[in-house]
Amino acid sequence: MLSLQDVTKRFGVRTVLNAVSLEVAAGEYVAVIGDSGIGKSTLLNAIAGLEPIDSGAIVFEGKDVSRLGEEEQARLRRDTFGFVFQAFHVLPHLTVEENVALPLLLRGISKREKARGLIAAVGLAGREASPPRELSGGELQRVAIARALVGDPKLILADEPTGNLDPQNAAQVLALMKDIVKRRGAAAILATHSEQAAAGCDRRYRLTAEGLNPLD
Ligand SMILES: Nc1ncnc2c1ncn2[C@@H]1O[C@H](COP(=O)(O)OP(=O)(O)OP(=O)(O)O)[C@@H](O)[C@H]1O
Ligand SMILES: [Mg+2]
Repeated sequence: MLSLQDVTKRFGVRTVLNAVSLEVAAGEYVAVIGDSGIGKSTLLNAIAGLEPIDSGAIVFEGKDVSRLGEEEQARLRRDTFGFVFQAFHVLPHLTVEENVALPLLLRGISKREKARGLIAAVGLAGREASPPRELSGGELQRVAIARALVGDPKLILADEPTGNLDPQNAAQVLALMKDIVKRRGAAAILATHSEQAAAGCDRRYRLTAEGLNPLD
């Protein structure tokens, strides 16, 4: 489904992604583990077409995402990818439910039940009408996760999705993502500094300045 081929990205003289290669098939849940500042967010942003790369290819279902026009990249993000941003990017003027339903709204689908189902699945039932300012960091993170999953994405890109969660909530959202991957044949890449968060993944890789290498 997704194939990264020698992806290289520099910021100035600093090489952040050094010939990174990775294959992810439908139904696979892959973890990319790496220290803070090593390039995990850069890698996920590049896959989502949010960060240009210097060389290599990022092929999703036969198309090189890195060479698509901005409009086509935006369409992929809207219709096909589910991105859990490290910084949440929850919209402050919308309620919890409106934030979660946003990807459906952008596609012209009105499925209240679906949004509510995801909100319940991340443990936030009853908070649908809350404005984000009344939520804790971990609750905001769970809103971001529900929003990324609500549109049945083919590819889930989760950037440190459990960074603000207690162990029980972390386990719950990781299980939810895994369930979606296994049940619907989606693929997921989880970026994390925590080997523990990556424990339930099918394959684990470590990102270093030298590149991406299998951990097990
Ligand atoms: N726009 C930019 N311009 C210059 N340097 C950047 C830019 N974006 C990121 N970097 C640098 O690239 C490196 C990788 O950043 P990135 O955010 O991908 O790391 P990360 O692995 O996600 O870290 P963390 O675990 O802290 O989230 C960092 O050293 C960062 O300072
Ligand atoms: Mg990051």
